[in-house]
Amino acid sequence: MIDELNTIETSAVAAIEGATSLAALAEVKTEVFGKSAPLAKAQRSLGTLPPEDRKSAGRAVNESRGRIERALDAHRSSLAEAERATQLVAERLDLTEVPEGATVGHAHIVTQAWQALEDVFVGMGFRVAEGPEVETDWHNFDALNIPPGHPARDGFDTIYVDHGRPGTTLLRTHTSPVQIRTMLDQEPPIYIVAPGRVFRRDTADATHMPVFHQLEGLVVDRDISLADLAGTIEAFTEAYFGPGFTSRLRPNYFPFTEPSAEFDIQRPDGSWLELGGCGMVHPNVLNAGGIDPERWTGFAFGFGIDRLAAMKYGVDDLRELFTGDVRFLNQF
Ligand code: DAH
Repeated sequence: MIDELNTIETSAVAAIEGATSLAALAEVKTEVFGKSAPLAKAQRSLGTLPPEDRKSAGRAVNESRGRIERALDAHRSSLAEAERATQLVAERLDLTEVPEGATVGHAHIVTQAWQALEDVFVGMGFRVAEGPEVETDWHNFDALNIPPGHPARDGFDTIYVDHGRPGTTLLRTHTSPVQIRTMLDQEPPIYIVAPGRVFRRDTADATHMPVFHQLEGLVVDRDISLADLAGTIEAFTEAYFGPGFTSRLRPNYFPFTEPSAEFDIQRPDGSWLELGGCGMVHPNVLNAGGIDPERWTGFAFGFGIDRLAAMKYGVDDLRELFTGDVRFLNQF
């Protein structure tokens, strides 16, 4: 019996180690552990042994089975490892060469505008600041002088997030909360621009998107006046659009600035485009940002990057920007 078991084990282990693939190994496994396999037969023959031999023979069969199983497991992992290594080599992509005739991608037109704007403002001495897209109602509204119940809140078509007390967490409706975060974060003088994504519960049409991009600007320093604001807008207009483009401010209302204005860009052909809002930072906003309005003054502005890109490239429907159609995107 023991001799027979040794033979069974030796040939089973040899068969296992002879398998050259996981599939072949699976077959060997059925052969070795199947019902009509020699090992199973040996197991069954235990019943025919005299009772005093049965126990030790049974143990011998189990030990043999254990060794065969371990041989199977070991060979299975080394085969799996080898197959994975082969697969990795086979699926390896050579990214070091661009095949002939292939086109190289480029930044999306909104990204291009975003980066060009950053360059223009950094060139004028501004730093780029950031804030979160998920905001508190305090940063997005209260601190910007829009208390609960203020009609300006309704104008924003806010998308609220199910977090904390209802109505306290939202997707920022504008980049203006970055003004607050920056003021709380650093002492004046402050010269920052904050480009970023903003969200409103809006149906997409030619001039609106539920997700779009704005660029916010904030300056806080000694003796900042409306002339500094107008001069900055004018300098930016020329730097971004080129010679022949000018700007103007028209009185308007925003809760976070006083006085407030809307600014327009004039194209060389004389036509005007409404671009964004601006004004002198409201004392309540400076206070919310921890800055003393008696010692510091500032101006702020904000406008849509997508609209600006659309205007620069003559795109008349904002939705075109976001369909991802390469025939459209390749033009820019
Ligand atoms: N946050 C305003 C909006 O989304 C735009 C704006 C207006 C930003 C005036 C400003 C500002 O910083 O001074 O409609």
